[in-house]
Amino acid sequence: MTTIALIGPGAVGGTIAAWLAQNPALSVTVCARTPFQGLEIQTPGGMIAASPVVLTDPAKAAPVDWVLIATKTYDTASADGWLDALIGPETRLVVLRNGVEHVESFLDRLPAERIVPAVVDIPAERDAPGRIRQRRDGWIKVPDGEAGRAFVALLAHTPIAAEAVADFRTQAWKKLALNCAGAVNALILQPSGIAHDEGAAQVMRTLVAECVAVGRAQGADLPDDLADAVIEGYRAAAPDGINSLHADRLAGRPMELDARNGVIVRQGTAHGIATPANAMVVALLNAAAIRL
Ligand SMILES: NC(=O)c1ccc[n+]([C@@H]2O[C@H](COP(=O)([O-])OP(=O)(O)OC[C@H]3O[C@@H](n4cnc5c(N)ncnc54)[C@H](OP(=O)(O)O)[C@@H]3O)[C@@H](O)[C@H]2O)c1
Repeated sequence: MTTIALIGPGAVGGTIAAWLAQNPALSVTVCARTPFQGLEIQTPGGMIAASPVVLTDPAKAAPVDWVLIATKTYDTASADGWLDALIGPETRLVVLRNGVEHVESFLDRLPAERIVPAVVDIPAERDAPGRIRQRRDGWIKVPDGEAGRAFVALLAHTPIAAEAVADFRTQAWKKLALNCAGAVNALILQPSGIAHDEGAAQVMRTLVAECVAVGRAQGADLPDDLADAVIEGYRAAAPDGINSLHADRLAGRPMELDARNGVIVRQGTAHGIATPANAMVVALLNAAAIRL
């Protein structure tokens, strides 16, 4: 029996845990902050349910074959107790999150060859703990290699299009290009449809252009028209769609600002590439969160 522990059973983590649990050959444990009983996922193909073991205390956890972490990036440190308990000498860690620093964030715990970074495009929302709406089957991309292919095999029985790709870096930066533009929505508290406003769209293009310059310096193969493609994507999306940075700000939660825009500034600085637009949105969104 393959043992899997999923840390962070929110929209993405809960969906993936429920799908994995459909395979009786996999033993799925969920490591939660907020306790709940059972997972019910409204998927594009109908409701699926699962009853994995739900733990809320790392003292009850033991090493497993696979740890999947799907907390928001700002909750990484709070998962330390889980990682201490779950990672043994053979354990592999799959990092399911946005950004381009999946591996770096966990190199203090296990070697790179046992860390599988994953770019996730599974639009999902949590209505309540354990109750999730999965909007599309979606896809997950991981780097090609033994660990990446083994993770893809775990999802073979699901409709999620999991794929091990040769150029993972490019995939991660393409997703970052989409995400970095979303800071405009969070800043002005306007949903996706604001991309039809040419002024807002121009600021988004500038954020993406900086992302492209830094991503290329990092080795990503990014097309010249990526900024325009990102704007077209926002304009084609539901006009009332709210990205997760925006949703976190509205809810008064921390934001994945460093993982989505701060990283462009930090890595830009390392390459001597100016990123004033991303630096500005980071500064303004951080300042907006200050309670005076
Ligand atoms: N949602 C999407 O459509 C989507 C799509 C693509 C990528 N992503 C990315 O995927 C990642 C996860 O996003 P999400 O939307 O799934 O977030 P989410 O719904 O907020 O879920 C995060 C989960 O982590 C749990 N958590 C936080 N700290 C924890 C801890 N110390 N121990 C155990 N559980 C802990 C939270 O617990 P509580 O129940 O207590 O809140 C919550 O269940 C992010 O990087 C996001 O940007 C999301």
